[in-house]
Amino acid sequence: MKTLDLTAASPQDQLQTLEQAFLTAAPGTEFQLQTSNPPDELLSTMIETYWGQFDWAPLNSGKPHWKTLLRKRGEPLADSLHEFMADDHARCDALFAQAEESGSTGNLAETKQRFQSFLTGMLRHFNMEEKGFFIEFDKRTGYRGGGPTYVMREEHDQLRGLLEQMGGFLDEGNLERYLSAGETMLILMEQHNMKEEHVLYTMADQMFQGECMELIKKLLRIK
Ligand SMILES: [Fe+2]
Ligand SMILES: [Fe+2]
Repeated sequence: MKTLDLTAASPQDQLQTLEQAFLTAAPGTEFQLQTSNPPDELLSTMIETYWGQFDWAPLNSGKPHWKTLLRKRGEPLADSLHEFMADDHARCDALFAQAEESGSTGNLAETKQRFQSFLTGMLRHFNMEEKGFFIEFDKRTGYRGGGPTYVMREEHDQLRGLLEQMGGFLDEGNLERYLSAGETMLILMEQHNMKEEHVLYTMADQMFQGECMELIKKLLRIK
């Protein structure tokens, strides 16, 4: 992953540097953007100018800088909520596995760092669902917060509790308990994601056919 340090650049220069790097990068290139403020303007420009050609995900929020993943896509983004959301599941799964790997080798500092990226990814994913996708889904189905999204929200709360526990164990320096809670996390996360991918996201692709892109644009702006 290439680091693009924009922390000292003016907003105008940030944009110029980012566009230049993005345009000259090979497809598949990943950048870690570092900014001293939330990169909202950069995201807006990317959405307006390069829509469908990039992936975007926060890696941390402001401690000490904002770090964001920007990937230049090889294939253009599909008009599919299923693909977009399932890709984000896979991205979070990979972050989880990296933190587990550090934990199992006993490297506390690295585990903390990697867990932070996983935590940021998971909380943002839950927010994209709860503040965006589930709301639109309920409007279409008429469930009004009941039905499948109700169950998913409850599971999010359970997963949030477990994330908090895992973070607490890391704060105590207790990798053994962290890894043991991680085993539960892996099982619950897999079950939860499978339900969403098999049921909700599949239904959504049928309901939002031709409108998925607009919804994805909204979801990307949710923190
Ligand atoms: Fe979910
Ligand atoms: Fe999800």
